[in-house]
Amino acid sequence: MAAIIIVGAQWGDEGKGKATDILGGRVDYVVKPNGGNNAGHTVVVGGEKYELKLLPAGVLSENATPVLGNGVVINLEALFSEIDGLEARGADASRLRVSANAHLVAPYHQTLDRVTERFLGKRAIGTTGRGIGPTYADKVSRVGIRVQDILDESILRQKIEAALARKNQILVKLYNRRAIDADEVFDYFMGYRDRLAPMIIDSATELNAALDAGKHVLMEGGQATMLDVDHGTYPFVTSSNPTTGGACVGAGIGPTRITSSLGIIKAYTTRVGAGPFPTELFDKWGEYLQTTGGEVGVNTGRKRRCGWYDSVLARYAGRVNGLTDLFVTKLDVLTGIGEIPICVAYDVDGVRHDEMPLTQSEFHHAVPIYETMPAWEEDITGCRSIAELPGRARDYLDRLEELSGTRISYVGVGPGRDQTIVVNDVLAG
Ligand code: GDP
Ligand code: IMO
Ligand code: MG
Repeated sequence: MAAIIIVGAQWGDEGKGKATDILGGRVDYVVKPNGGNNAGHTVVVGGEKYELKLLPAGVLSENATPVLGNGVVINLEALFSEIDGLEARGADASRLRVSANAHLVAPYHQTLDRVTERFLGKRAIGTTGRGIGPTYADKVSRVGIRVQDILDESILRQKIEAALARKNQILVKLYNRRAIDADEVFDYFMGYRDRLAPMIIDSATELNAALDAGKHVLMEGGQATMLDVDHGTYPFVTSSNPTTGGACVGAGIGPTRITSSLGIIKAYTTRVGAGPFPTELFDKWGEYLQTTGGEVGVNTGRKRRCGWYDSVLARYAGRVNGLTDLFVTKLDVLTGIGEIPICVAYDVDGVRHDEMPLTQSEFHHAVPIYETMPAWEEDITGCRSIAELPGRARDYLDRLEELSGTRISYVGVGPGRDQTIVVNDVLAG
């Protein structure tokens, strides 16, 4: 029995899709516990590139059952268009199961996401505009629409009317938009009922029964630690808990059952959207990482902001997630760059901080304190063991491990499924 959580240790796009794909072939279930179609997980299999937004990357693993857990927010139009797109390429999404308790993104959530961002002006979060925040807000305000509501027409109608009663006031009076018609929303949801109904399950019961039977469950987190609504750079965060605690809640698997918490971390750092980012680079090296690393958001096509590795963040992610292992991705991108700076601490208004400062205001003022290491010149994309890596690449990894406080169990040397060095197999034993 193994219950493994894959979690982003930075600001997203660390390579969670690739990590899931590597382990997905040997597990029974791959569950997405949080987020929605704001994610973008890329998997490269035999030169074929797949970009998953709402579905867990485990849908590409032939023997695993992919599940959208109760913590996910589901846009049905996006769900079925992604399934159709995958099936047109020969993938089989028929095993997909969806939690009865997951929430549905309504068309009005997307409208509200966009108008709210516009209203915030220069204080905008830079959301993906997919309606994720407003859907989670409705969940917590207890006016959300859940997957199971689609099975009861009269409940569905009542819930849409209840949600719209207040929203239409806001849309019309505050944002000067037209009111949304409850019938239109009802018809939109009902249009998907026949396709969705056979997929609906009590996912927490099924996943726990699978663990009881000795099976392996992998949770593929969306987003990342620094985008967590509690632990991230609030308010520049997403509206869920993409940390390991959130994965337990979002899958309905208790923390005592977790066997490994695998933090995915790039050998440098990126961020999409607004918010503080101490090691961000505005010089030629930022451009170099962006171009060489192919750092463009899968979801919105925005260029990712780039910076050096931040070990303060890595230690923080290790703590709040209880990480057991790290998967360092994109080491190949640093080949041949001369010297590699690593952020070891912050200078905040003249005071050294070895750990995350107390307040967001201090974090906004954090200036990285760097040490540097020499980079290697050799192409590492063909290396398949630590021993095959050049000495300087090994030294860099050793230093990251020492500074980050979590053992490095996997290293990515290219986007392909096989371009991975396995140091410790989280599924062994
Ligand atoms: P996710 O959101 O965490 O799944 O990450 P994304 O898929 O959004 O972004 C990660 C990008 O890095 C994708 O384009 C991957 O194909 C790519 N990638 C993952 N691991 C590696 C690696 O070790 N080296 C290189 N060069 N690319 C990688
Ligand atoms: P994956 O799973 C990177 C960012 C958005 C924005 C903030 C809030 O691919 O790592 P939202 O639409 O969620 O309300 O936007 O969070 N964001 C991501 N950035 N990778 C992601 O997912 C992200 N999901 C959301 O850019 O700054
Ligand atoms: Mg991504």
